[in-house]
Amino acid sequence: MKDNTKLVATGRPHNRPAHPVNMPVERASTILFPTYDDYLEGAKNITYGRLGVSTHRALEAAVTALEGGFETRLAPSGLQACTAAILAFVSAGDHILMTDSAYDPTRKFCDRFLERFGVETTFYDPLAKKSEIAALMRPATKVIFAESPGSLTFEVQDIPALAEAAHDGGAKLIVDNTWSGGYFCKPIALGADVSIQSATKYLIGHADCLLGTITSSDEQTASKIFYSLLQIGSNVSADDAFLALRGMRTLSTRLDRHQRNALDLAKWLGKRNEVDAVIHPALKSCPGHANWKRDFTGSSGLFSVVLKPVPLPALKTFFNAFKLFGIGFSWGGYESLAVHVHPEKDRSATRWTKEGSVVRFHAGLEDIDDLKIDLERAFNAMATALK
Ligand SMILES: Cc1ncc(COP(=O)(O)O)c(C=O)c1O
Repeated sequence: MKDNTKLVATGRPHNRPAHPVNMPVERASTILFPTYDDYLEGAKNITYGRLGVSTHRALEAAVTALEGGFETRLAPSGLQACTAAILAFVSAGDHILMTDSAYDPTRKFCDRFLERFGVETTFYDPLAKKSEIAALMRPATKVIFAESPGSLTFEVQDIPALAEAAHDGGAKLIVDNTWSGGYFCKPIALGADVSIQSATKYLIGHADCLLGTITSSDEQTASKIFYSLLQIGSNVSADDAFLALRGMRTLSTRLDRHQRNALDLAKWLGKRNEVDAVIHPALKSCPGHANWKRDFTGSSGLFSVVLKPVPLPALKTFFNAFKLFGIGFSWGGYESLAVHVHPEKDRSATRWTKEGSVVRFHAGLEDIDDLKIDLERAFNAMATALK
């Protein structure tokens, strides 16, 4: 099946004799077994609410099909998908290689939280070659953590090279695949052991709940992930799993529009006098663009621009003039967003040297002409403030 068909056909209640179109929400803590033998049998799959019931299994099946993996497990947030996946493979004395462009809370989990338990993290340049990664590997390196494209600055990483470096050194490669929605990039086919998404973004797609997915490439990796989530007491509500599965039905349609709007806006912004640089993986100017061209089939709605330097009061006027772009964290919902971000604060292996403010845009599903009018309004307000 092609992805568009998988998104419609998987995770549906087909095995019931007469059934609704969608897998119902099953809310449960206790699961009741009619007989002792059923209890033993059930223990292999659905046993207790915390481990998920049929609603969760349906979402997991759909994500596994989309990502092309062996098995998917759910976490209550994208961040916990990242942290539980890392925890599955490290112990005291181990070492992690993490991209310098990682989502900041994932980064802090390693160099602030895991550090207390004797796990060391080295950050690497997201554009590092395989030989440079290999040189950073230690006997104790158990995980390479990649996020591609990187948060805020969108460097596209060489996933096959990272996978080789990880496997040569006996480590696992975990990839945060949120930007592609699991639709435009398949890290497992490129060699990753684990592909993670913050389902909060494109899978859910409506900015109304949080959830994470962890897809493993093989049975042994999947088992480690399962016990990591089990042992930290992770739980996902069936209502949230239902919303994610419902979101997935329209994922490709939404992503097509996010893609078109973002590319159109990125090109339009690139021609503006106020803009110093546009960072969009599908544009040649993006660091790692060749990797995007080789490994991705499209681009989603999130990108950044670097403005020419302006004083903060003028920048505030820019943001305050928006009527459509919301000022807010997260992304992947149907609505457009703009936030002032600070890559210079979250880097240690590389340096962010651009002087102007970085604005990260999420292109939503609105009409492109209205989005441009909104941006024009913001630039005009900034120009007035600069007079
Ligand atoms: C790339 C990336 N990974 C992980 C996360 C964390 O996801 P959540 O907000 O669902 O915890 C985010 C959130 O913004 C993100 O942008």
